[in-house]
Order: sequence, then C-alpha cells, then structure tokens
Amino acid sequence: MASLSSSNSVVLVFCIAVISSLIIASAGNLNQDFQITWGDGRAKISNNGELLTLSLDKASGSGFQSKNEYLFGQIDMQLKLVPGNSAGTVTAYYLSSKGSTWDEIDFEFLGNSTGEPYTLHTNVFSQGKGNREQQFHLWFDPTADFHTYSILWNPQHIVFSVDGTPIRKFKNLESKGVPYPKNQAMRIYSSLWNADDWATRGGLVKTDWSLAPFSASYRNFKANACVWSSGASSCGSNSATSNSWMSQELDSAGEKKLKWVQKNYMIYNYCTDSKRYATLAANCRCQRRQTNHRRSRLLSIVAIASPHSSSQTGLEGGAKLSSTAWGFHNQASSATASDNQRPTTTRFHGELQFAVIPPASDFTDQGRLTMRKRETGRGRRERKKRKESGDVLDKIEIDRSKYTH
Ligand SMILES: *[C@@H]1O[C@H](CO)[C@@H](O)[C@H](O)[C@H]1NC(C)=O
Repeated sequence: MASLSSSNSVVLVFCIAVISSLIIASAGNLNQDFQITWGDGRAKISNNGELLTLSLDKASGSGFQSKNEYLFGQIDMQLKLVPGNSAGTVTAYYLSSKGSTWDEIDFEFLGNSTGEPYTLHTNVFSQGKGNREQQFHLWFDPTADFHTYSILWNPQHIVFSVDGTPIRKFKNLESKGVPYPKNQAMRIYSSLWNADDWATRGGLVKTDWSLAPFSASYRNFKANACVWSSGASSCGSNSATSNSWMSQELDSAGEKKLKWVQKNYMIYNYCTDSKRYATLAANCRCQRRQTNHRRSRLLSIVAIASPHSSSQTGLEGGAKLSSTAWGFHNQASSATASDNQRPTTTRFHGELQFAVIPPASDFTDQGRLTMRKRETGRGRRERKKRKESGDVLDKIEIDRSKYTH
C-alpha cells in the first residue's frame, strides 16, 4: 500500500510538471535561448542578455542558433537591420530542421543601397522542397528601429507577420498532396552574411566594404512554443486546448491586413511566376482560381510612365487586357491586379515594372499596348490638386521592344 501511494504521488508530480511546461514562454535573457555559432567574436550578446548583435566584415559574417528545437509555436523576435548602404548583405532569420528532407520557414532580409528599400524574402520548405518564395517591400524603414517579425506555426498554417500584420499565410494543404511541415522539430537560426553575387538587384550592386563592419541587432525574443526534446513535445499530445495559438486562425481583420500587404507590398510571388513554374504548385491553385489568372508568359518589362508621377493612381488594362492578370512593381510600392478584382491602387514614381504582362497576342502589330489610367482617388479636392501639380498619368504605353527578358 505504502509503495502504491508513493508511486501515485510521483505520477501527480509528473502531471504538474507536464502542465506547467505546456506553454514554454520565454522572454528575457537571450543567453538562455540562444548560442552564438560562428563569426569569431563578431556576434555578441550584451546588456545583460537583452541585446544580440551580429556583424559582418570582409573576412566573415556571424550567426547564432536557438538552444531549443520547436515543433509548432508562435515565435516573435525584434530585429533592426543593417542601416545605410547595406547592399549585398543578407540577414537571414529562419526555422529549420535537419537532414535531406528538412522543413524550413524563412525570413531573409536583402540589403540595398542607401534609401532604397530592403527586400523581405520569405520561403517555406517541406520535406526538402522549397521554391515557394514570396518577396515584399516594407511599409517602414526596417533599419531605423526594431520591428517584430513573427512566425505562427501550427498544424493548420504558417503565418508570417511583421509588427502584428500578417504578410503571408501558408496553408496546410496536405489533403491536396502538398507536404506540410509538422513532424520535424526546427531550430531558430540567424546569420548576417555577404551575398553580393545575387542579393541586391540580382547581384548588380556590390557590398561597399569601406563601410564594414555591418551590423544587425535582435531583442525581445518571445516563444510560445512546443519545445521538442528527447523525442517528445513539451506540449504533450493534446495541446490545442491549452495553447490558443495552436488553433489560431486569422480573423477577418487579419485577413484584410494580409490582403492589404499582398496587394501593396508584395513584389514577387512564386504563384504567379509561370515562367519559372510551368505547373502551378497546389498551394497556388485556389488563389489562381479566385483571380481567374490566365496562363501568360512571364515577361518583365520596364515601361516609363510620367517622369514625376507619385499620385495615387490605379491602372487599368485596355480592352485586350481584360482577361489577363497583371501586376507591376516599383521603388515605392507594388501591387498586382486582375480582371475580376478592383484595379490596383498604388503609389509610384517614375518607373513601372510589370511582373506579369500580357502575352504577345495582346499587342498590336506595331508591338504596342496601351493601358488607361483609372482615377481611384476619392476626393475631388485631391484630384484637382493632382491635376494642378501635373501629377496625372493618362495612359501607359508598353513597347514590346523594352522587354528586359
Ligand atoms: C533595391 O532597390 C531596388 C530599386 O528601388 C528595388 O527594385 C529592389 O527590390 C530593392 N531590393 C533589393 C534587395 O534589390
């Protein structure tokens, strides 16, 4: 009897331990959660564990990784990126498992010349297969201050967020045959390194080493996550009830914000890259169906609009464009639109770059195609002001000879 009751109390103690570790919320000392893995002293944790900095010079970059491995979680980190001329530098911050069929969830920040926008590159690998890139510009200067970059990873989806604004959602579409990261625990990794052979404007802009060392900073790490250790999850097998993020879906406000970002700040989407991907990934199919996207060759061209146009203007395809999805991007912003969406509203300046353009058959024999401007500004006052300042673009003519590909 005595031995039985003592083993009962052991079980009880064990249960309490499991319950209290269901949510591993960590915040505070970066020394506890991370270890510097490379860079020969170029990476440092300072301010009593509150700040981590990575640096890069011509000889080496640097990096760190989490001590824990996670299998699902809501993971937040604040980053402040390399300021000034950061061209050629890449700050990678990602989750990854190991092995040849690894899973990975990526944020990568591609530096740029002073005053030019960083590119936030995202990707999701499942079982060693990636090629699911989406890229964004940001609506703020990510070098001026710290901003929060979050990954919500649960069995339903992966949501990438910036300062609480969702920028990308990768749904679990296992039912459609797309492998989803859910069985392999991942560690957090980050590094600052040089990639001036491709990072900035496709490798055209090189790193200016006279500005080295370059540095990026991290703080306020927070993980509400299931820690994986010795083959078991800290969340146990039935965790959905105790961790709200485990079953979290985007609410309608979140979906709206996501649409806003995708419409105004997305500069690349593998789903619409039909040049690279002849057959569409299953993840994209529903999206395509929604936008009734016609298969068109991806040709990137540069069309010169009016030289100093920075008005809020929507562009609408001419008659022949009516069934073609198209998009464009430029320095200040980006957008995509298609025939059954409202024409895009965007802010642009000078050059427009079309990411998806209509097939050759939409051009006239002279190789030209005209798009009409569409006024989307609401207020009459605004419109008048734009007219007076000459900020009006009436039409864009695209010349097929200006294709860059
Ligand atoms: C750098 O700036 C150019 C020009 O504004 C932009 O097209 C590009 O997306 C930016 N980012 C990178 C990483 O090249």
